[in-house]
Amino acid sequence: MTTSHWALPPPSFAPLIQDLEADTVVVGGGIAGVTTAYLLACEGQRVVLLERDEIGSGETSRSSAQLTASLDFRYFELAALHGEDRARLIARSHLEAVDEIERIASGERIACDLVRLPSFLFAPPEQQKDLMRELAAMQSAGLNVQMVDPPAGTLNLGPCLRLEHQAAFHPVRYLQGLAEAAQRRGAKIYTHSAVTSYDSTGVVTQNGARVHAAHVVLATNVPVADRVKFSFRLEPYRTYMISLDLTAAIEPGHYWDTVDPYHYVRLDGDLLLVGGEDHVVGRADDAEKRYRCLEVWAREHFPVGQRREAWSGQVENTPDGLAYIGESAGVYVVTGDVGNGLTHGTIGALVIRDLILGRENAWTELYDANRVPRGNRLEWLKEGITAAAHLGEWVTGGDDPTDIAPGEGAVIRQGIRKLAVYRDEHGELHTRSAMCPHFGCVVHWNTGEKSWDCPCHGSRFTAFGDLLHGPARTGLAAEDLSSDARTPD
Ligand SMILES: Cc1cc2nc3c(=O)[nH]c(=O)nc-3n(C[C@H](O)[C@H](O)[C@H](O)COP(=O)(O)OP(=O)(O)OC[C@H]3O[C@@H](n4cnc5c(N)ncnc54)[C@H](O)[C@@H]3O)c2cc1C
Ligand code: FES
Repeated sequence: MTTSHWALPPPSFAPLIQDLEADTVVVGGGIAGVTTAYLLACEGQRVVLLERDEIGSGETSRSSAQLTASLDFRYFELAALHGEDRARLIARSHLEAVDEIERIASGERIACDLVRLPSFLFAPPEQQKDLMRELAAMQSAGLNVQMVDPPAGTLNLGPCLRLEHQAAFHPVRYLQGLAEAAQRRGAKIYTHSAVTSYDSTGVVTQNGARVHAAHVVLATNVPVADRVKFSFRLEPYRTYMISLDLTAAIEPGHYWDTVDPYHYVRLDGDLLLVGGEDHVVGRADDAEKRYRCLEVWAREHFPVGQRREAWSGQVENTPDGLAYIGESAGVYVVTGDVGNGLTHGTIGALVIRDLILGRENAWTELYDANRVPRGNRLEWLKEGITAAAHLGEWVTGGDDPTDIAPGEGAVIRQGIRKLAVYRDEHGELHTRSAMCPHFGCVVHWNTGEKSWDCPCHGSRFTAFGDLLHGPARTGLAAEDLSSDARTPD
């Protein structure tokens, strides 16, 4: 797996080994889960947080960490889908999430390099009309935005929309500081404690420990073990990031463009972090080409030198640009980050805290987890059909295991079986079933991350078949490669 710019040694928490009682059990140690645990602990609740790996081992640590109400969906799209009043509510919720993160970081003295800065949205010449439309939509959503000349030091950007008073931070320092603050306020945190089953009365971990709780919160980025409720309303995308040396000063800020797939840019000291080149998970295996495209694009728009880092991560899009937050079938969920998951995760924590405490929250209905989202239905229908088509891969051929280079994987056909075969750096083959345990699609090898990715609903597995990302609940099933296929002739 690639290492992100923000990687830090994780804080040390023990695994859960005995049964516990709690008011609320939170599953998932990313920004959504840790913020929920923190806010409820601040209200005096007995909170238990369970994390499968380490605090921050999910998408929060792979983010570009821009905290902003300048969203991946354009405001004119949001206004068309949800109406102007709701577009105002959407803008307000993201602005308040940024304020909440700043308030917590300052109140808990979390040294996470949080700074306030503007966001700049720019467009290629053929999309200037969209920029004007977006200016009007953002202003009517109540945002403090204006059209400005290209910011100092940038290259070929053209006019930009400048949104004031947004923010950036170090996501892993924030998350680790927040986990410590939650613990100080009484929350019990356990890592290496994957939840394997749950209902409205509690959860069970992989080693059989149970947490009985009045409230269960699934903050696992996508709900674990979900078969249909969310999987068919989410579209998982792989997104790519690189960092490059800045060779001259540019105006501090976040930068976005309007192309599809779009590019996003932030600064960290003398580095420019550039992201984009997204594709549906499992439907491309050309990471290095995508990193190179980001580099070419960065050189066209910013004064940059050598490339330093490259990594990728996963975002979950929804048809209407809003996360799903709230109660669903007896548990609480936060999912569907739409690339704005640091603010959506914080909004989720605020909404769920209020739902659990029986308080009014102005955003509950907006983000309702059970809504049938509006959006481009035809596109989503097409995606559903494409996902179904991936089930048809069962009848197609497969590679030859003798062709697999050390450190690579391939799907091999043996009789009626399809096998996910990985050859480790020492030449040894590791074989699992290529059938995704979620709904049975054939997984694809991801050369960039050395993982098996499912093209249907975005589950991911390590090279050895262990679960990395839901909605699947388990890893790839054990399988044997017949002995005559193991060695070259
Ligand atoms: C490259 C990139 C750039 C991004 N840029 C931005 C940005 O600029 N601004 C923004 O707002 N958002 C951005 N995002 C999105 C944002 O980073 C994520 O949406 C957000 O961090 C997700 O937080 P989370 O808590 O929902 O999930 P995660 O951080 O993924 O946390 C979920 C946790 O749940 C754990 N888990 C899963 N299953 C189980 C289980 N069964 N039992 C126990 N634990 C489990 C996982 O191990 C993980 O630690 C970006 C994302 C990427 C990939
Ligand atoms: S994630 Fe649904 S079939 Fe793999």
